[in-house]
Parts: sequence; structure tokens; C-alpha cells
Amino acid sequence: MPTELQTRHRIYPADARQMAALADASVNLVVTSPPYPMIAMWDSLFGDLDPGISQTLAEGRPQAMFARMHALLDPVWDEIYRVLRPGGFACINIGDAVRSFNGEFGLYTNHARILDHLQRIGFTCLPAILWRKPTNAPTKFMGSGMLPAGAYVTLEHEYILIVRKGGKRRFSPEEQRRRRESAIFWEERNTFFSDVWTDIRGSRQILEVGAGRDRSAAFPFELAYRLILMYAIKGDTVLDPFWGTGTTTLAAITAGRSSIGYEIDPALGRLAAENAQAALVNMQGLLHARLEAHLQFARDWEARKGPLKYRNRHYGFKVMTRQEQEIVFDLPSALMWATDDDIVCDYGGIAFHGSDHPGDGGVVEEQTTNRNPARRPGAPDRQRKLF
Ligand SMILES: C[S@@+](CC[C@H](N)C(=O)[O-])C[C@H]1O[C@@H](n2cnc3c(N)ncnc32)[C@H](O)[C@@H]1O
Repeated sequence: MPTELQTRHRIYPADARQMAALADASVNLVVTSPPYPMIAMWDSLFGDLDPGISQTLAEGRPQAMFARMHALLDPVWDEIYRVLRPGGFACINIGDAVRSFNGEFGLYTNHARILDHLQRIGFTCLPAILWRKPTNAPTKFMGSGMLPAGAYVTLEHEYILIVRKGGKRRFSPEEQRRRRESAIFWEERNTFFSDVWTDIRGSRQILEVGAGRDRSAAFPFELAYRLILMYAIKGDTVLDPFWGTGTTTLAAITAGRSSIGYEIDPALGRLAAENAQAALVNMQGLLHARLEAHLQFARDWEARKGPLKYRNRHYGFKVMTRQEQEIVFDLPSALMWATDDDIVCDYGGIAFHGSDHPGDGGVVEEQTTNRNPARRPGAPDRQRKLF
């Protein structure tokens, strides 16, 4: 059943334009979101790194401002190319900016500028995801309103750019085993690999554990978690060079992947122990909910279309495809701080008892022991009735 899993999480309170602590080809995946050029909340950060930017703003020269801001991000993209292993993916959440200068309203195409640089330095571009946030202001309009030839389309989407260093990743025999254990469910694949995501809200945070700031620029936990499930296997290392409040690390812990973060703002760059410990409960709840959603999907499918063909080998519940037979659920069970910025996470298992046939009342037990939970005898300390 579940394998022995331990993950490690390092945070460097430093500038990601030079990630000197990281060796070439040492991380498997990058999940990140930079400060967005031309969005006013980031003007001062960019201005601190390059005082010439404040000058362009004062002089009302937006194209020069745009160019200088991206020139500050480019070295980080160069660094992620260096530290990614061949076949490793980078997923970059970025929004374009709309802003008026000198009375002229315009769009500043951050996603195109970043993609252009990524391609230039050798990344292979893959289909991107359009993240469309459910709007809470459907009647919002900009420009001339109902009068033609002067109104602007409302910008309600961001991008998740997806690029890869070189060709397909090769998996060692040991990685092939971890890859099978890291499979996602068939019904999850259908949502995750769609090129438009409409089901992730911009503001909602399942796990609110960051150090916080007045206007948190955190991306949603679900966004990072989903990308990690899609593009890394258990035990891999995920890098976020713009770590912020640490959403990527929380998602990596939940997914059973290790993580590394770089964060330049000294007010951030720390995972507060008491908050993160509390988040463990949410992470366990989230994993239970994922399994519960699958069991519900399987029941609904069988009621409508007949028996599913395969069973998961570890837990016995039904799955749609052969590829889901080895999926293992590892529950984060304990976080240990070696230092302020070096954290280790241990995992326990979920043991599934009972049948997944309608009405049979299967039970998932959560085992909070750290090592080889499935092989260790002893009563689980909590039982959750699933249906
Ligand atoms: C959009 S926020 C990232 C938010 C993050 N995804 C989260 O969920 O909290 C961008 C972050 O990058 C940081 N940053 C900007 N330039 C940086 C650099 N050169 N090196 C490291 N961090 C940087 C900013 O301080 C900010 O916290």
C-alpha cells in the first residue's frame, strides 16, 4: 500500500535573478507567478529594483516602463531554464495589464512578452491554459459603454503559460513506479487538461496560511495544487522563484512533492509554524474530499452506465482506467522545522475499507503514523465515514 514518503521544503529569502544555491538541472517543475509588469501595485517593487522605472512612470513613457520591468524578470526566466532538469515543465501564471497613460487606455501584453523570451532562451512552448475567474461584476464595462467604436472588452482572464525544457522527460524504473502512484483520476484529467479553467476562483484560498500583506497577490491553492499534480510526480522538487505567501509550497506538501522558494520581500519568505501546522488538517481534508469526489463519480457512473472495469490495487475502489490502478494517497501528517527555512514533512496513509458499491458504506481511515503506515499495525486515530 502507501509507500514511505518524506518531502523537504527550502525557502531562500533572496533575489531569484541569481539562484546560486541551486545546481544546474536540479528541479523537476516550476510553478510561479511573477509581479505583473504595468499593474500599479507592483510599480514600487520594480522601481526599487530599477530606479529608471520610476523615471519612465513620472515621464509617462509606458513602453519604456514595460520594457524595463520585463528586463527585471528575464534573468529569473534564464535561471529557471538553468535549474530545470531536461524534460521539466515551467507553469507561469501571468495576467496582461490594462492602464491609461497620458489619457490613452491600452493593453500591456505581459504573457506575449514572457512567452517570447522563454522561446528565445530554448524552452519548448506547449498549449497554455486560460484561467477565467468567475466574475462578480458581469455588468462592468470600460470605455464608451453602449456607444459603438469606443468601448473596451473587460479583461477577466489570466494565463498559465506552459513550457518545457527540451523534449519529453525520461523516467527511471524507480520514477516509473512513483509516476504510477501519482496518477490522477480519469474524471480529474478531463477538467485539469482543459485549455480553459473556469472553476477556480481568484480570491478564494482554501489554505490561508501566508504571512499576508495588505493586498495579497497569492494565487489560489487549487491552481498550484492542480499544476503540481499534472506536471510532477511524488518525490519531485517544485521551484517557485516568486514565492510570496508560499502557496506553491503548501500545494507541494499536499501533493507529496518537495519544494524550493525564493522570495525577495523580507516581510514574506517564511512559513509560520503554527499556521502551517493548522493547515495540515485542511490538507488532509482536501485529500479526503478528492477521494470522496472520486467515489461519488464512480457510483454515479455505475448507476447510469454500468460497472467500471478496473479497481485500484491498494484500496479496492473502482476506477475508469488501467492507469489509475496504482494511485496512492499520502496524507501529510507532521511538519518539522530544521531551521526557519528548511522544513521536512512526513506522511501517513489512507486505508480504504469496504465496498464502493452503492449503499455499502465504505470507510476511509486516516493513519497518522509517519513511516510505512500500511505495514504498521495499530488502530488509526480517526475514522471518517465516506458514504
Ligand atoms: C505575484 S507575487 C507571488 C504570489 C505567490 N504566488 C503566492 O501565492 O503568494 C510575486 C512575488 O515575487 C516577489 N519577487 C519579486 N521579484 C523577485 C525577485 N527578483 N526574486 C524573488 N522574489 C521576487 C514579490 O515580493 C512577490 O512576493
